[in-house]
Amino acid sequence: MSVRIAPSILSADFAALGRDVAMVAAAGADWIHVDVMDGRFVPNISIGVPVVAALARVSPVPLDVHLMIVEPETYVDAFVQAGAASVSVHVEATDHLHRLVHRIRELGARPGVAINPATPLETLTEIAADLDIVILMSVNPGFGGQAFIERSYDRLRRLRDLLDRQGSAAVITVDGGVDPARAEAVVEAGGDVLVAGNAVFGAADPTAAMAALRAAGARGWQARGSR
Ligand code: DX5
Ligand code: ZN
Repeated sequence: MSVRIAPSILSADFAALGRDVAMVAAAGADWIHVDVMDGRFVPNISIGVPVVAALARVSPVPLDVHLMIVEPETYVDAFVQAGAASVSVHVEATDHLHRLVHRIRELGARPGVAINPATPLETLTEIAADLDIVILMSVNPGFGGQAFIERSYDRLRRLRDLLDRQGSAAVITVDGGVDPARAEAVVEAGGDVLVAGNAVFGAADPTAAMAALRAAGARGWQARGSR
């Protein structure tokens, strides 16, 4: 395995989503990261089930759906049905995380849990072994293009330890403010999957930005392996 790149279409051109997905897929995207926001869990509204269904028809790579919504249990069936390959819910958004994670797997998708910057990592201890993905938020969710929170590096190292201690095979996705300048350190600290919105779609040359992310990620991967 090597580092995976998951461009976030939150920063793509919503009037040309199919074109933008094809562009980043051609540039080597491993997954397409889809940010779903409800205006309640986060102070922004983005896209929902019909857009995921439309993208699933055209995307050559798996759709990695990140639900930033309250009561996610109401919607996971619909997102999987629409074609999500993985569905991540926020640990802060449900009282019944175990049931929900197992429901996502039962539906045939890969379950993930996302965790906000101020939430103690220990909230993941009891569910870690059941997860395929942990999304470590390195910004407060709600908007693309925000600054990476520096403390995230330390959280990444501690999350990696926690997953190892729990015997979890989950990959760690780092979400928010990741760009080619940070990618090496993010991967070295424990990131396996890099989400990047602004750094890809806001770049003058998104294909070059993808290549720069991958090269930096590969250096971090190597540094991590040789530790
Ligand atoms: C934040 C979203 C992220 C974010 C990534 O609420 O979950 O996926 O938009 O975008 P950048 O890379 O621009 O921070
Ligand atoms: Zn996201």
